[in-house]
Amino acid sequence: MNEASPTRHLCARASSAAVIALPGAEAQAEGLAARLSAERLTLEHRRFPDTELYLRVHGPVEGRHVIVAAHLHEPDAKTLAAVFLADALRDLGAAGVGIVAPYLPYMRQDARFQPGEAITSASYARVLSAAFDWLVTVDPHLHRHASLEEIYRLRAHVVPSAPAIARWIAAHVERPVVVGPDEESEQWVRRVAQSVGCGHVVLRKHRRGDRDVRIDPSALPAGGEFTPVVVDDIISSAATMADVVRLLTGRGFWAPVCVGVHGLFAPGALHTLRAAGAARLAVCNTVPPALPDVEVIDVEPGLADGVRHALEEAVLAP
Ligand code: R5P
Repeated sequence: MNEASPTRHLCARASSAAVIALPGAEAQAEGLAARLSAERLTLEHRRFPDTELYLRVHGPVEGRHVIVAAHLHEPDAKTLAAVFLADALRDLGAAGVGIVAPYLPYMRQDARFQPGEAITSASYARVLSAAFDWLVTVDPHLHRHASLEEIYRLRAHVVPSAPAIARWIAAHVERPVVVGPDEESEQWVRRVAQSVGCGHVVLRKHRRGDRDVRIDPSALPAGGEFTPVVVDDIISSAATMADVVRLLTGRGFWAPVCVGVHGLFAPGALHTLRAAGAARLAVCNTVPPALPDVEVIDVEPGLADGVRHALEEAVLAP
């Protein structure tokens, strides 16, 4: 490659990118900056006595592509901060502003099930799309929306968690069989099982309320000398996982392992899961903080690759 080649030019511009953390995402920003050899900017933030937000960016922004590292679980207050920060960065002369949100919230209300309901997946997409040029996230909950492009008007890069989950299962679980609690989980479960080289089964779920689900056991084979690994994208109330765990233990399988891509863990969820009989529990590091006795599957290398790709595209087609 010679000095003036477009690729070299591109790499140079991408490496002049800077990373800034929203409150709570400092470790993610540190990791990304190290992996991308990007500079860190600092965000000063506080609340006025009346609770309104004060933000100040420290470091050079003019002409740079800025990566906002964010953790958007419990999203409402954090989203307003993200939008204000993106706006400030543009006002300070950033060439482009992207967001890395390993867990993308508000994806589950993806239809109007009752008259008058807000389709918040689409509303949230409009809010983020108006603020950012690109987004990198890990396995968003895509069910009735086939892809993020259906609702997001920015460049969206989805990092798959399946390779990291499959490596973890292969290294930690003896004679695994992967179990998906519902039809939506088929997309993750199939990829994980293929990578591990083991069998999988996908069940059906009937949701009757936020914390009330019933799993139809008819697809479940009789237990045997296997460790079931229940894989789902989100653990929120844990009602879904707990019901599957109860069915599996009732069928005589070895003690079930539970794996969630995004461990949101609503109050009481961890207890519900343990009480149901989950022997071992692991989640990807998309939602901090790590919880005691919950193992962590590292997806940061994949996230950094996603950001590299997003930056290259942003530099090529600003
Ligand atoms: C939605 O169907 C998702 O794929 C998960 O199954 C769901 O969010 C899990 O929620 P909970 O832990 O509250 O049962």
